[in-house]
Amino acid sequence: MIESHTTPAERVQLLRQRIAEADYAYYVLDDPVISDAEYDALMRELRQLEAEHPELVTPDSPTQRVSGQPSRQFAPVTHLVPMLSLGNVFTPEELAGWARMVTNLLGQEVVWCVEPKIDGVAVSLQYQDGILVAGATRGDGVTGEDVTANLRTIRAIPLRLRQGVPGRLDVRGEVYLPRARFAALNQAQLAAGQRTFANPRNAAAGSLRQKDPSLTASRGLAFFAYSVVQPELLGIATQYDLLQKLGELGFQVAPGAQRCTNLAQIWEVAERLREQREALPFETDGVVVKVDRFAFQDQLGARDREPRWAIAIKFPATQGQTRLKDIVVQVTRRGQLAPRAVLEPVPIGGVTVSSASLFNEEEIARLGVLIGDRVVVERRGDVIPQVIATLTSQRTGEERPFRMPERCPSCGTPVERRPGQVGVYCPNTWGCPEQALQRVIWFASRAGMDIEGLGPERIEQLRDAGLVHDAADLYRLTVDQLVQLERFADVSAKKLVEAIEASKRQPLPRLLVALGIGDVGEATARDLAEAFGSLAELRRATVEALQQVPGIGPKVAQAIRAFFDDPQNARLLDELAALGVTGGEMKRRVVGDALRSQSWVITGTLDSMKREEAEAALRALGATVTGAVSRKTTAVVVGREAGATKLAKIAEYGIRTLNEQQFLELLAQHGVPVPANR
Ligand code: IVH
Repeated sequence: MIESHTTPAERVQLLRQRIAEADYAYYVLDDPVISDAEYDALMRELRQLEAEHPELVTPDSPTQRVSGQPSRQFAPVTHLVPMLSLGNVFTPEELAGWARMVTNLLGQEVVWCVEPKIDGVAVSLQYQDGILVAGATRGDGVTGEDVTANLRTIRAIPLRLRQGVPGRLDVRGEVYLPRARFAALNQAQLAAGQRTFANPRNAAAGSLRQKDPSLTASRGLAFFAYSVVQPELLGIATQYDLLQKLGELGFQVAPGAQRCTNLAQIWEVAERLREQREALPFETDGVVVKVDRFAFQDQLGARDREPRWAIAIKFPATQGQTRLKDIVVQVTRRGQLAPRAVLEPVPIGGVTVSSASLFNEEEIARLGVLIGDRVVVERRGDVIPQVIATLTSQRTGEERPFRMPERCPSCGTPVERRPGQVGVYCPNTWGCPEQALQRVIWFASRAGMDIEGLGPERIEQLRDAGLVHDAADLYRLTVDQLVQLERFADVSAKKLVEAIEASKRQPLPRLLVALGIGDVGEATARDLAEAFGSLAELRRATVEALQQVPGIGPKVAQAIRAFFDDPQNARLLDELAALGVTGGEMKRRVVGDALRSQSWVITGTLDSMKREEAEAALRALGATVTGAVSRKTTAVVVGREAGATKLAKIAEYGIRTLNEQQFLELLAQHGVPVPANR
């Protein structure tokens, strides 16, 4: 590709430009323009040329991202302009108080710029005539550390600005570790016996302070720019415009910045970001609200190292650190022994968390957690809190490993490990009291029969009173029995009996989920109910018939059959039926096996139904439907404007074809309802 008349200097120049373009496209725009192989080839050629012509090596060359010897220590750097911190607000009232202070001081209303607050490490980057010459961490705001060599390894930091800026430019922003990188990093650290990080921010800080730049480079750090010290050098008057300009200069800016003219808008932007925060590839702990116009910012100034012109609206915490006091083992409704972390209570986002799920032995090994360790706990939305990291650096030596018990903690039966499955099981399905209790709890839960007022504690109380051993017993409870119990009054007893009675009207799919058949979830339950119409029919279904239901494979079909074949389940179902719990009847959707193990293709447009409807109809008859005609194709439904290549292949292979009319007749013949003409 080398143009014959170019000099090495020109070629080096061209290669650097192409590599910078590729880096920008990949790391900033997230929209790669060349393949990895092409990129590697450019780098290889550049390295080669620079080796041959050392005089051509410049600090902004992409070969210089990872360079230099590991440093022993980072030199202190005094920021020419201090790097400030931010005040916090948590409520609309506090925000209003701050905004009032601002408008009072300025004597007028202002426009605000609202942007995500990135949870990383603040750094300052020095550009001299558009070339990165130095970079430092924030440190205490006045003095930071010179981490230039490490910052240079971050591909989202341009070594040369995309537009010329004469003189000195101090660009500030946040170095962060993308979420996906964080999880991978902790796993690798654990595997290597190295300390793990509590959160992406600590991991970013740790990665930036590596003595060896090649280690920093391997961590996959990224960077969002959000300010420059003298925006007037760029001819920019507002924060919002500055963010656009930073993008043009080759920086990544955090997505979602907005101009707002009133507090309601600001709060809405913050709320929206809070809702999205878990889906974002970076960690954000709030939004930063800034007075948009720099002239106003200058007028307001700072106090106590915090600008008067900016404030952070902090999101409630989702993480906390605490001590894992113990690991207890619970038995699930399926008999799996589930380890749970007993935690020293810790407030996280307004809720006190004192226990967390650890899932299974594998998860405990993955986390490398010992009893007594300090751990990071995460609580998100409604889900059960989780231990997400172990703070191995804070060990005292007093910690001890957890051992999975060899016997079921509820019934004492020796546990078993099952080939191909994670976890340890109590095999005493019918005799284990905890499994029985958990099955009833599941049956009554919101996912199952959704019986109001019948939560886990209530069910345990009923069990302890000897009234409830299985789901059928619920339907035998009387008001007279309940009022004898503690915490039951006439009204609550009556209400509960009514709620249980009302659950008899729950439709079949719900009952199927409540029974806890194999892996049958909501969607499969609906398919089964529609295929067989009633519980009685379903109980009679053969493995073959079950497999006719679209989406049910041999494994699930066998698990369902095994469930109904179990004499204990059969007894429970008979009792439930006798008590009036049947799930009722459902309108059956035809299924058949007329086209079993046949491979069908639909080509062209059908007038009477959509393509998906036609495919579903074929599947309901047992056929598989594929997109391409091959020698294995059984038949092809040919609609209007069918593809020429397909028709040629059909002819070549001598495959049977049906026109639309013939296809409709076939469906009618097998009782598949056809949608009325569209
Ligand atoms: S503005 C002068 N904008 O938050 C005000 N800071 O808690 C500070 N931060 O040290 C700079 N995202 O590290 C600003 N969009 C953003 C930010 C941001 C994160 C950090 C910054 C600062 C800390 C204060």
